[in-house]
Parts: sequence; C-alpha cells; structure tokens
Amino acid sequence: MEEVIVSAPGKVILAGEHAVVYGEPALVATVGLRCRVKTRWIEKKQILIKDEYEDVSLARLAIEASLKKRNQLSEGVKVEISSELPIGGGLGSSAAMGTAIVWSLLKGYPEVLKDRVVKLVEDKQHKNSSGLDQAIVKEGGVMRYQRGTGFKKLKKKNWPEFLLIDSGKPVEGTGEMVAMVREKKRKYGEVFKRIGEISEQWQEKKIKENQRLLEEIGVVGGEAKKMIREIERIGGMAKISGAGGVKEGSGILLGFHEEIERLKRLVERKKWKYYQVKLGVEGVRYEKN
Ligand code: MEV
Repeated sequence: MEEVIVSAPGKVILAGEHAVVYGEPALVATVGLRCRVKTRWIEKKQILIKDEYEDVSLARLAIEASLKKRNQLSEGVKVEISSELPIGGGLGSSAAMGTAIVWSLLKGYPEVLKDRVVKLVEDKQHKNSSGLDQAIVKEGGVMRYQRGTGFKKLKKKNWPEFLLIDSGKPVEGTGEMVAMVREKKRKYGEVFKRIGEISEQWQEKKIKENQRLLEEIGVVGGEAKKMIREIERIGGMAKISGAGGVKEGSGILLGFHEEIERLKRLVERKKWKYYQVKLGVEGVRYEKN
C-alpha cells in the first residue's frame, strides 16, 4: 500500500489559555514549526514507531485509535515521526503529532471521522481539554476559539513579530496543570472573565496584563517569572503560552517588544533558547511523497 506523509503545525496562544477551558474565548495562531508523520502498511501484524520525539505512548494511542476505526487492528503499520516542535512546551506538539498520525492512517475517510478520533486521543492525553489545540492544528491560520461555539478565523494581515522563548520544559503535563486550576476554579471566576476580555480586545500591549492574570491563577514558575521581569525591564513583555508549569520550567514564552531587535539582543546575551517563526501558517496537510 502507498506511503502517506502528513504534516501538522504547532500553535501559540496569544491570549486565553486556561480560561478557555471554562468557556471564555481564546486567540490562537499556528506557528511555522511542523510535526511530520510518514506511514506505511507492513505485512506482519506489528506497529513499528520510529519516533524522534520519544513520546511513544501518545503515538501508540493515536495509531491504535485510528486502526480501530478502520477495523484493521490486525494489520501492521510502520510510522515514522519527526518534529521541529519542542515537546511539552505549550506549542501544541501533542496535538500536531496526534492529528498527523490520525490523518495519515485515515486518509480517504471523512473529516468528521478523523475529527472524532483526534478528539478521542486528545481527551485521553489531556483529560478535560477545551478542543482549542485540535481546532487550530487542523484549520491553520489565526482564530478566535470558544468552547461550545467553536472557532472563527481572523484575517489580520500584519501580525507583529514575536520571539518564542524557552523558559524550560515543564515537568507537569497539560492535564495536570488544568486539574490544578480546576481545584480552585470558583475562586478564579473573575480572573477567567478578564482573560476572556483580553482575547476579545487583543492588542500586543495586553500581553503583560494577561501574564499577570496567569500568575494569579498559579500556573507560572519562578524561573519564567524572572525571565519575564527581565524582558519587562527593557520595555518588552512576555507571557507563557499554553498550560504553563510551576515546579521547573513553564514552557514557551510569547515575547514581544516594539523594537524586536532589542528583545533579541537580551535573549542572545542571556543565552536563552528561542524561535522566531511565522504565525498563521497552513493547518494539517497531506504532503507529496
Ligand atoms: C493548552 O494548549 C491550553 C489550555 O487552555 C488547555 C486547553 O485549552 O485544553 C491550558
């Protein structure tokens, strides 16, 4: 059988993480870093995963859910995964991987079915997810997303330039961070509302306020706070993007400065790892062999 190659992008949340789980709107964009999956049917009944990601359990989950839909649990398949996305840093690496695997194994099947299988994988991986990662990775571009109502794609041509700065890999998974916030969700009702308002009236300069609100709900660790204060000291701003993390790193920071070169100089002087990427790229797609 033919070899199928699929690639899916990562994402960055401009505003609205965590609050989106409780029905507030979020603003999210794809980033120009992709996960690539190549699948080939093999004769013997076995699943071979060549995974540079080392997230074999998620890959296996996505493969088995797809094979079940095809009623082909007895078939063998070889899946090769490679990714430009940092893992578990808030850039949607698992949604990109899950989506690319499902799309490759269910090529030719209706989209609603692929959506259902990706959702199943996302739910198993993250427990109570808002569905935001799945929507943006599939649709691409920049969108307003709200749980229940769905998404609306936005057409703003000149999105500012950002730096995606690595504050260290969180040891907590997304599901764990979401569960931590859930425990005190009554207390944070007002904060969620204010985060939702930022998503609706988003401007670059609101990144700072969004970050303060994320600190209020306790999803930002000490190292990330220190880095963000240093960025603010030179007139820039930054926020976590995604679920965050408190014990060690807090994942990727969305960094902004009116003069982006100044932020770049700081980041390079500090030897922080960073990515400068295009926003709003195409969603999941079949690649030519
Ligand atoms: C994860 O990318 C964003 C969170 O809001 C969780 C979710 O929306 O499911 C933290």
